[in-house]
Amino acid sequence: MASFGDKTFQPMRKLFIKTYGCQMNVYDSARMADLLAPLGYAPADAAADADMVILNTCHIREKAAEKVFSELGKLKELKDEKADEGRQMVIAVAGCVAQAEGAEIVRRQKAVDIVVGPQSYHRLPELIARIAREKGHVLETDFPAQDKFDSLPEQTSVAGPSALLTVQEGCDKFCTFCVVPYTRGAEYSRPVTQILNEARGFVVRGVREITLLGQNVNAYSGEGLDGERWSLARLIRELAKIDGLARIRYMTSHPRDMGDDLIAAHGEIEQLMPYLHLPVQSGSDGILRAMNRQHTRDDYLRLADRIRAIRPGLALSSDFIVGFPGESDRDFEDTLALVRAVGFASAFSFKYSARPGTPAAAAAKQVPEDMKSARLEALQNLLLEQQRTFNRGCVGMVLPVLFEKPGRKQGQAIGRSPYLQAVHAENADHLIGDIRDVKVEEVFPNSLKGALLENTRRIREAAC
Ligand code: 5AD
Ligand code: SF4
Repeated sequence: MASFGDKTFQPMRKLFIKTYGCQMNVYDSARMADLLAPLGYAPADAAADADMVILNTCHIREKAAEKVFSELGKLKELKDEKADEGRQMVIAVAGCVAQAEGAEIVRRQKAVDIVVGPQSYHRLPELIARIAREKGHVLETDFPAQDKFDSLPEQTSVAGPSALLTVQEGCDKFCTFCVVPYTRGAEYSRPVTQILNEARGFVVRGVREITLLGQNVNAYSGEGLDGERWSLARLIRELAKIDGLARIRYMTSHPRDMGDDLIAAHGEIEQLMPYLHLPVQSGSDGILRAMNRQHTRDDYLRLADRIRAIRPGLALSSDFIVGFPGESDRDFEDTLALVRAVGFASAFSFKYSARPGTPAAAAAKQVPEDMKSARLEALQNLLLEQQRTFNRGCVGMVLPVLFEKPGRKQGQAIGRSPYLQAVHAENADHLIGDIRDVKVEEVFPNSLKGALLENTRRIREAAC
């Protein structure tokens, strides 16, 4: 390796990161890329072209770990092929499977060089140096979130006008079905200054919209500019002062942590988008209790009413689990009834999957698989119908769209409405990064089509 003064020349290497699961993993993958760029790692399009492959894994639902092991099997073959050609390939497993399975990963797949948990990936450069030196596996899974955020470099890998920004990590709620409190650890909120700096850096790089991320984002309680603990609402108010930052979103929230100030913020802060992802999981009080959700069905209904009273037309989205242990037909009917009462603009729904080590996994009354499938189908049909109704309600409306990327057709661009709907428009590819009024003309299953109102400025945000 050639040396120039105190700087060491780094040969060009290629990095491929495969990301599974939630938005926070997407954020973490971008940060890993930032971290490894100074070591000479440039992005590769496929694992076959890479000198280092990171699987950033998810453990939230079934078969996640099995998928990782099967992917690792394929990577081992690639690694062997490369070794035959005298080339090296480093394989790292990051994320929540790394945290949950730890040493089991290298025991089952010897080709793995590095196992790094979600709170420890800032140590990747050091871990890479260690495997080069020691010629063995390294395992790094226990470090507090604070160390990570204090040591990460500035974000450089901004990929468009909409960016993710982790403000909070971990969860203290311990829903009985969920692995997050075990894989991501206790709640930690980043200090406001750190977040403001990251947000300003984004805006300088052309970002117009920021989604604040946290497993329990509305439980945010970080050190504020005055040294006091600030709530998410206060943080959002401060972010809204950044010139050029047009849109703010946050996810994922817990109903218990929707404080009065956060609800009020939806009526007062123009940049805060009229869309809220607020998981309810079930509409049955008995199941909510067994899930340790710490809220009732009624709490949720009242909350939805209060938020919509403050911000009429706000689009609500949610997560649902069907087939939680002990869920009866009656409990499931209560979930359908809650969906009908609230009316969701979009939603995610899942079959309950027993996660090893969580309390519900050991419950006696597991629901049979075919019953889970039937309930999931019924729920998804209802949710899809509601999504269609919401989208159809937007036809004829003029919505401000933040254009994010070119579409498949020449001249077309795709963006997002305030309600997070994907919207495409013709002759708009020169507008990427801009917010423009679009008149919605047609509704497709997963997107809207609209016509650009070239000479109109945004006058108001229409409500569907
Ligand atoms: N089984 C099924 N779905 C789950 N989720 C979390 N844990 C499980 C599980 N064990 C769902 C919840 C959560 C979303 C991110 O994933 O609905 O809100
Ligand atoms: Fe998991 Fe969310 Fe419950 Fe926390 S609040 S335990 S992250 S489902």
